[in-house]
Amino acid sequence: MAEIKDLIETIIMQYNKDKGMLIPMMQDIQNSQGYLPPDYLRVLSKELCIPLSQIFSVATFYSSFRLAPKGRHEITLCMGTVCYLKGAGKISEIVCEKYNIQPGGTTEDRLFTLAGVNCVGACALAPVMIVDGKYYNAMTPDKVLEIISNFSTAKQNDEKEEK
Ligand code: FES
Repeated sequence: MAEIKDLIETIIMQYNKDKGMLIPMMQDIQNSQGYLPPDYLRVLSKELCIPLSQIFSVATFYSSFRLAPKGRHEITLCMGTVCYLKGAGKISEIVCEKYNIQPGGTTEDRLFTLAGVNCVGACALAPVMIVDGKYYNAMTPDKVLEIISNFSTAKQNDEKEEK
């Protein structure tokens, strides 16, 4: 807990304890931790004398904030009009159902985080999926599930090598 307090104090001091700088402070926490851990937000709330509920409201209002850690792989499905009309909605539904997550969520084993975004500017390739920055085009539910299952296999192989 002392480490958390030190980090929060350092961040707060960079903004002269200015409550109006709450969002940049939260961004700094997220940059350092990869997400906004509740313990950090509790300390921030106490140090700034801002109700925790207010801080959580900010965290849930802005889509750039995340309250849970990211998965090992980041899967982004384009939900723009063209991709959606070509089946992106169905793909998202099938992936969510198979891995028991919600859009924007992370699998329990933290294998991947699934996000939906607006048009990524590659409509001719619809439906488009981006995995860790790499574009995949003309996606179908089967293709997406196959790509994800390759992650699972790679993860198992990594774990075997570590032993
Ligand atoms: S709508 Fe998906 S790339 Fe444009």
